Amino acid sequence: MHIRGEVFDDRAAVYAVTHAAFAGMDPMVEPDEVSLLQELFDCENYDPRFSILALDGTAVIGHVIATWGRVGQEPMLGLGPLAVAPEYQHRGVGSILMQSIHDQAEAESLSGIVLLGTPAYYRRFGYEPAQARGLHPSDPSWGEHFMVRVFDDRKLPTGHYQYAKPFGV
Ligand SMILES: CC(C)(COP(=O)(O)OP(=O)(O)OC[C@H]1O[C@@H](n2cnc3c(N)ncnc32)[C@H](O)[C@@H]1OP(=O)(O)O)[C@@H](O)C(=O)NCCC(=O)NCCS
Repeated sequence: MHIRGEVFDDRAAVYAVTHAAFAGMDPMVEPDEVSLLQELFDCENYDPRFSILALDGTAVIGHVIATWGRVGQEPMLGLGPLAVAPEYQHRGVGSILMQSIHDQAEAESLSGIVLLGTPAYYRRFGYEPAQARGLHPSDPSWGEHFMVRVFDDRKLPTGHYQYAKPFGV
């Protein structure tokens, strides 16, 4: 398995992996995450440095993306979706993608990344409840599911987090 940045020609494979990972009862129904990704790729908040693939040979088996949101005037990344092809799950691919995007964020000297996700999964990557750090979601009902991974607490902004427009929140 190897990791590299996503490029335009990878998009169809990324949609396929995301579709498979998020598929519900009816695999013919396209999960919302696929159209979200399509909009994220097309919006000004997309940054190819933070769209990362896992590959088995030439086959895309996983993808993670973070896009630029804001806390007031301060740009801050919001992570998601993260998807691993079902047949490759439970082998550490998701963990490697998370590590890669964090390495990239640290290389760019970012203060932190937020996400909306399951604490049971994301805690292992150093995510903690964002509100305890003074970062508030647009929907207060997200509670402990709105999380932040802090890289530099001296630079971490506080206030309300506004996701990129395609998230619709
Ligand atoms: C969540 C996901 C990205 C994890 O990818 P992965 O490559 O299987 O992750 P890893 O192998 O690094 O870690 C697997 C561990 O994560 C944990 N885990 C996976 N999904 C979890 C969840 N929803 N809640 C809590 N823990 C979870 C399990 O403890 C698992 O351990 P196990 O293999 O012993 O069962 C993958 O399952 C996936 O694509 N799921 C569907 C889409 C999704 O829910 N994406 C995340 C929300 S944006």
